[in-house]
Amino acid sequence: MTLLVTGGAGFIGSCFVRDWLAQSDEPVVNLDKLTYAGNLANLAGLAADARHVFVQGDIGDPTLLAGLLSQHQPRAVVNFAAESHVDRSIHGADDFIQTNVVGTFRLLEAVRAYWGSLQGDARQHFRLLHVSTDEVYGSLSASDAAFAETNRYEPNSPYAATKAASDHLVRAWHHTHGLPVLTTNCSNNYGPYHFPEKLIPLVIHHALAGKPLPIYGDGQQVRDWLYVGDHCSAIRAVLAGGRLGETYNIGGWNEKANLEVVHTLCRLLDAMQPRSDGQSYATQITFVTDRPGHDRRYAIDARKIEQELGWRPAETFETGLAKTVRWYLDNAQWVQDVTSGAYRDWVGQQYGNPP
Ligand code: NAD
Ligand code: TYD
Repeated sequence: MTLLVTGGAGFIGSCFVRDWLAQSDEPVVNLDKLTYAGNLANLAGLAADARHVFVQGDIGDPTLLAGLLSQHQPRAVVNFAAESHVDRSIHGADDFIQTNVVGTFRLLEAVRAYWGSLQGDARQHFRLLHVSTDEVYGSLSASDAAFAETNRYEPNSPYAATKAASDHLVRAWHHTHGLPVLTTNCSNNYGPYHFPEKLIPLVIHHALAGKPLPIYGDGQQVRDWLYVGDHCSAIRAVLAGGRLGETYNIGGWNEKANLEVVHTLCRLLDAMQPRSDGQSYATQITFVTDRPGHDRRYAIDARKIEQELGWRPAETFETGLAKTVRWYLDNAQWVQDVTSGAYRDWVGQQYGNPP
């Protein structure tokens, strides 16, 4: 038995691979293109582990996919590979279309051909799990009910539109071709190994570097934060027991306004690594121009996965965030290593200040 994971060198995929191999001896073949967001340092602990086979490559490469599927005969494919940052999708959506839409299509076709070649139990038990986002549902007002699986798709950013397109392809390959698929739509993740272009790691990184902490607009946009290890346990639950063709929303029951998140991070940093001048990191908070088309609120109704599969998050926001800040303080070298030239160019372009 083997699992094929795509995008397993990124933030969530690498957590999934590490957790999987910590709990099971089932080998993982990890296909990742190693874009700016993919980092083998996230998998350093598995470097000498024969159960982990890393392959650098693109989910949009049909020949590579066909070869890997036929060679390793996985009993499931878990697709994390994507371009994932909203702000980058606003600056340019080409890579998002290529990977999130065309890449998903190529993966579906390769998996369909492979699944078609399987017989008996192997065919019956095979699964393709597609990892997606709550951003496909659009934006909520303060009084709207949280997103349920039945909500209409109303993607607003180029990123969300490409993820919505990929979800629709996955759905169609199930309905038309009978492909045994599962889709998960998760809220914002945070935790160790999170690339410091996203809010939480960016704020920790900037705070410690003495740089401004950029808050878009009024900072009252709400996200439903989930610790990355909880997302991975939810994916394992859906892979093990999810009903074919169904989608499962995954969330932390944990809505917070961005400004509150940043103040909480500053308080944690003030306690764990106080500034040498005795001032709070909160003095570095700076309000900047809002993101175009910025979604106001995301919130997940996670009752379906709880009722059907008994999954609930293990971490609270307080425990998860404290663990995360501790990890960044203990892993300054990791941050240093990922803040490469290309990343510095991005920060300069986005925030107009040299890092
Ligand atoms: P990430 O950007 O950290 O990692 C993406 C990984 O995919 C990287 O390792 C990258 O090298 C790889 N990749 C990109 N294009 C590829 C391609 N064409 N072929 C093979 N590999 C490729 O993203 P993440 O935060 O780990 O997100 C993983 C998945 O979870 C994505 O599908 C994302 O849409 C979804 N998701 C993320 C969040 C979140 O808060 N980060 C929330 C819900 C859903
Ligand atoms: P982000 O981490 O980019 O995730 P997403 O856009 O997928 O929700 O952003 C989380 C929230 O934080 C979002 O409302 C945008 C906001 N934000 C800032 O205010 N400042 C920043 O520098 C960044 C990166 C995000």
